[in-house]
Amino acid sequence: MLEASGESHTKLPMQGIAQPTRAEVLNLPRVHISQHPVMAHKMRLLRDRHTASPEFYQLVKEIGSLLAYEATSSLALREQTIETPLQETKAYRLAGGIGVTPVLRAGLGLAEGFRQVIPDVQVWHLGLRRDERTLQALEYYNRLPHEVDLQVCYAVDPMLATGGSAIDAINVLKRRNIPRLSYIGIIAAPYGLLRLSQAHPDIDIYIAELDEGLNDVGYIVPGLGDAGDRQFGTF
Ligand code: URA
Repeated sequence: MLEASGESHTKLPMQGIAQPTRAEVLNLPRVHISQHPVMAHKMRLLRDRHTASPEFYQLVKEIGSLLAYEATSSLALREQTIETPLQETKAYRLAGGIGVTPVLRAGLGLAEGFRQVIPDVQVWHLGLRRDERTLQALEYYNRLPHEVDLQVCYAVDPMLATGGSAIDAINVLKRRNIPRLSYIGIIAAPYGLLRLSQAHPDIDIYIAELDEGLNDVGYIVPGLGDAGDRQFGTF
């Protein structure tokens, strides 16, 4: 069974599972929920069922750029001396490489938005699915490099529903000994947010909005529907 990550319409057994409320997860440590009015404006357009795929994809990219801006606000800098046309001066560059890992395929638009903020980011594509029998995460596509020299890597996947694929993606990245990891999503359900934060208390989680919960088939409500299908026009 696949996680409800935009790649499957398999029913998830959410019936009977107690879900936390929004209030219960609002103050989790290391969880950052955007407060930016421009984000709220774009989220209205993104959620609207009448927004067609080309505009939807464009909005995902723009929201990815806004989230990238928020999530990179505490990155380490290195001082260097440069010459302006007038004189020498001290200036700063990002200290160390930055990676972004889109979880296929729904994470692609967010990664693109990320690249618009930091063009030389390394993009590590990752395709995950669950083995039905063992419930282990299987990497069906993995372009993570063998040699890693990054200060931080961001796993990006728009919908944090049950948290399964986000937890698995961070597990994969943790094997690469990257000093700092973060997760970036657009909408989270309290259930997935709590699970991710409990499974990986050492990462920062950035989201645009926190929704009410999950319906019986694991979709976030009110949500926006299937983020993969809406980006790529596959209904
Ligand atoms: N994946 C989606 O694309 N949408 C949801 O609501 C949940 C998971």
